[in-house]
Amino acid sequence: MFAERLAQVQPSATLKVAAEADRLRRAGVDVVDFSAGEPDFPTPEHVKAAGKAAIDANFTRYTVTPGIPELRQAVADRYKRDYGVEVAPTEVLMTVGGKHALFNIAMALFNPGDEVITHAPYWPTIPEQVKLVGATPVVVHTTPDDAFALHADAIISAMTAKTKGIILNSPCNPTGGLISEDVVAAIADAAAKKGVWVIIDLCYEQLIYEKVPHNLVKVLFDRHRDRTVLAGSASKSYAMTGWRCGWTVAPKELTSAFNLIQGQSTTNICSITQKAALAALQGPQDAVDAMLVEYRKRRDNIHAWLTAHPGVKCVKPSGAFYLFPDVSGLLTPDVPNTFAFAQQLLEKEHVALTPGEAFDAPGFVRISYATSMDALREGATRLLRFAESLQPARA
Ligand SMILES: Cc1ncc(COP(=O)(O)O)c(C=O)c1O
Repeated sequence: MFAERLAQVQPSATLKVAAEADRLRRAGVDVVDFSAGEPDFPTPEHVKAAGKAAIDANFTRYTVTPGIPELRQAVADRYKRDYGVEVAPTEVLMTVGGKHALFNIAMALFNPGDEVITHAPYWPTIPEQVKLVGATPVVVHTTPDDAFALHADAIISAMTAKTKGIILNSPCNPTGGLISEDVVAAIADAAAKKGVWVIIDLCYEQLIYEKVPHNLVKVLFDRHRDRTVLAGSASKSYAMTGWRCGWTVAPKELTSAFNLIQGQSTTNICSITQKAALAALQGPQDAVDAMLVEYRKRRDNIHAWLTAHPGVKCVKPSGAFYLFPDVSGLLTPDVPNTFAFAQQLLEKEHVALTPGEAFDAPGFVRISYATSMDALREGATRLLRFAESLQPARA
């Protein structure tokens, strides 16, 4: 009855857990929600003010499809400032969040029969969008033994004559891991030889805890400028998830292709959001730094609380705001996988988290620490109590 392309696509597991948590909350249950992939902070005041001013000035009509020129310029300036690369405003197109940026990319680049390489554990939207346009995701697995580090040879050896693109994500959702510059350099060199597109999802680019070299943009631009696509987002850096603002940075011809797709689908992103995003990109960045300081404290605490239990193993994430512990040591015949773990934890202790299976990482769970310290403390207590209740079955 429906289009065949839907047969391949899975619903978003993260949104499903969040919806179930929301249902319980509405029923009056005191739920601790570790499932949300969004900042709990409000949008910074100057950004909200710019949105309000846009409404008052009646800046409420269609804009040009790729976004107002000053905003595209602000994105270009941002990449110059942060990464030292030259981007023309004609290479920038504003999208309805980073998710839409990736969707435009998949629509413009991939045909049925094309292979698109990505790495697991992954944010599920990445392979699902590839399937949605009829192409085939090729998943390269990383291992917990070396903190899910991505190795270039794993990607390179997955390349075939059908490979059209490689999608990287760093900092990574769900692991919080970073891809190193030399790995991206080797991937870019191999991709350049074969004319393969490299797409990098930089949605968490401003949420990196330690000062480490992570200029993946420059590495890619220096080696593979004409086939590199960046997907960015204001959602996480500026606590703007609901405003829906992302962007692509891509060669001019590809940006024109995005413009064509967008002109026949969503048209421009919300005009009010564009003014707010302009304030976010051009205004003071201290709110970004303040959020990072707070996330770091939360990361250190939740990591210490949970790894105090011998059944929980976890690398400290380098970026984003997710803890991705291995809880396979807690599983039992009655709770044989992390789907069951997450379900029973929600039923018995009212803690919502996302099972690792959703990210192609059985035995793991994703805990978002974009929530208050009190909620983290309470959730950790409940989770550890649940772990203890499983103890007899394991003994
Ligand atoms: C890895 C990754 N990329 C992109 C996005 C897109 O976010 P948005 O569409 O809100 O910009 C998300 C959101 O969770 C994400 O985790």
